[in-house]
Amino acid sequence: MRLQDKVVLLTAAAGAGIGQATARVMAREGASIVITDIHEDRARAVAAEIASESGVRTLGLKCDVTSAVDVKNAVDETLGAFGRIDVLFNNAGTNRPTQVADITDEVWDLVIATSLTGTFYCCRAVVPAMRKQNGGRIISVTSVAGFRGLAGGHAHYAAAKAGVMAFTRCLAMEVAPYRITANTIAPSFIFNEFIPHIYPQDEIDRMFEEIPYPRKGTPEDVANAALFLASDEGEYMTGQTLCVTGGSWMR
Ligand SMILES: NC(=O)c1ccc[n+]([C@@H]2O[C@H](COP(=O)([O-])OP(=O)(O)OC[C@H]3O[C@@H](n4cnc5c(N)ncnc54)[C@H](O)[C@@H]3O)[C@@H](O)[C@H]2O)c1
Repeated sequence: MRLQDKVVLLTAAAGAGIGQATARVMAREGASIVITDIHEDRARAVAAEIASESGVRTLGLKCDVTSAVDVKNAVDETLGAFGRIDVLFNNAGTNRPTQVADITDEVWDLVIATSLTGTFYCCRAVVPAMRKQNGGRIISVTSVAGFRGLAGGHAHYAAAKAGVMAFTRCLAMEVAPYRITANTIAPSFIFNEFIPHIYPQDEIDRMFEEIPYPRKGTPEDVANAALFLASDEGEYMTGQTLCVTGGSWMR
């Protein structure tokens, strides 16, 4: 029960991937869980499932992270229900693989707004409560795409994720005096059932082939890294990026 009495707010946590897996891992450790997602019905359903499976308090809320109003409402509702937010898990991100010459303004804006601006909105909304509590953990999901050159049409996505890492380092400096940490987790390819709707099969094959470790990475692998950063054991780590890559990225 490493997160007993903690309140965790997660974005994009009603899908098949990292967000929901992290919510479940943290619920098993005793945390109260706020599932937010752009899809309200799924957010409520996942919150109800986790409550009945883990016996923790949960809340399911609509929150499109590209809307500052949605983000503020979700944070206010969480504070109204639980009185505090100990962990913010910024999971929302989206990719529309496209070569630079073909990226429309709309696609650029969507990719940047979901990862980078959404992370900013959530941090801006949560930090005042964490400062009052004199403590908190902010964990944002980035990607090894933020470090590397990739040919598969990832320039906008890579820029957004690198932006979140740079943003997080400066945020970590600002909030450290309040015992708030801010870190990112950079996964490599983590399969879930929706991935084939986003990436062509040859890109999926390429992403698997470059992983030296002899199994596929799972959303739970990322969730376990998040649990460490959220737990007492992760207290002295801030401004960092934890890479969960099966060795496909080393530095
Ligand atoms: N899956 C991978 O291979 C991989 C690799 C590196 C990084 N990441 C990053 O990990 C994070 C999670 O990705 P995942 O693939 O595990 O999927 P996920 O299931 O964790 O997230 C998908 C969810 O995001 C929600 N969502 C989409 N846009 C939203 C918005 N504007 N506001 C709120 N919710 C929104 C969807 O409704 C869906 O429920 C993303 O930031 C992604 O960029 C994923």
